[in-house]
Amino acid sequence: MDEFIKNLPKIELHAHINGSLSNDTLKKLIELKKKTQDDYDLSLYLGFDSDGSLEKCFEKFKLAHELVDSISALKLATECIISEFSNENVVYLELRSTPRSTECMTKAQYLEAIVEQIIECKISHPNIIVKYLPSINISYGAKEAEENYNLFFALRNKYPEIVVGIDLSGDATKGKFSDLKHIFERARADGFRFAIHCAESPDESEILDKLEFMADGDRLGHGTFIDEKNPAIWSAFTSKVLPIEICLTSNVLCRTVTSYEDHHISRFIRKFPIVICTDDYAVFSTSLTRELQLSVDVYKLSKQDLIDLMENANKFSFARPHERQLIGDKIREFKLKSFSS
Ligand code: IMP
Ligand code: ZN
Repeated sequence: MDEFIKNLPKIELHAHINGSLSNDTLKKLIELKKKTQDDYDLSLYLGFDSDGSLEKCFEKFKLAHELVDSISALKLATECIISEFSNENVVYLELRSTPRSTECMTKAQYLEAIVEQIIECKISHPNIIVKYLPSINISYGAKEAEENYNLFFALRNKYPEIVVGIDLSGDATKGKFSDLKHIFERARADGFRFAIHCAESPDESEILDKLEFMADGDRLGHGTFIDEKNPAIWSAFTSKVLPIEICLTSNVLCRTVTSYEDHHISRFIRKFPIVICTDDYAVFSTSLTRELQLSVDVYKLSKQDLIDLMENANKFSFARPHERQLIGDKIREFKLKSFSS
């Protein structure tokens, strides 16, 4: 099975840039930082214990943000992440990130830097197709979301092949979807697709607000509290086709689920479309390969199940039709080869 997972053409649809800074990437970022700030204090970052609550995970992002504070650092981080995914044979990747302005970059420059790096990587990493979903942070409020959306709109018009959707993320306990709904409605009218973090926490009205807005083919991040035991939520979920981005280790380490065995994946597997994702592979010391291996070990997924997972991921990615065709061909070719040998 190890070899099968290693060689399987993989698809990653839920990866936050600043949660995906591996130790190798951090070392490179630190070297870059030292060029302009030789007294940079790393003790905070290196001593951080990521095995904590959801709140602690959010603290870790703040530390990552200190390191990724310039165009060159952001481009370096993006390149390293693409390279690491490509090295594990990820053939299609959607990256997401929230624009930040710092002393040395504006939010518009932040957005542009990611896209420019993705385009540069087409040459250095030709085996992986990469897209960008700019993120709206739910906890930053409507004014910031509106300002950011205007930037996303301009970016998408400039790079329609790369900017294919919008992510809604951030600490959901610190913001309300209803405050942002009008912006998402505008984005929908402008042709954006959505990957929305939903039901990470049990707030019923918040979950229902998001489910009511979402349309067939939008993707739902986590879905932890979507459960038959709550008929209102369950019927809102089942009335549409909403693939769930499942992030096993993220949920266990953030303690939104109690264990891998009790993970909500069991409610959805083979019944509803799901996609296995990493979320923040560096924060949670994982990789897409490891998440797939876990799903085999814990939930007894077969080789055919893994192929089905990738075909589903391909179906529900925000790729262009010709790219979906190309990725589909890679999966079919791999399936033929591995089942005939
Ligand atoms: P960035 O957007 O590239 O800076 O990636 C880090 C950000 O992603 C965090 O500050 C959060 O806003 C968001 N994020 C990462 N993981 C999660 C999650 O599991 N739930 C909600 N938001 C998340
Ligand atoms: Zn996430």
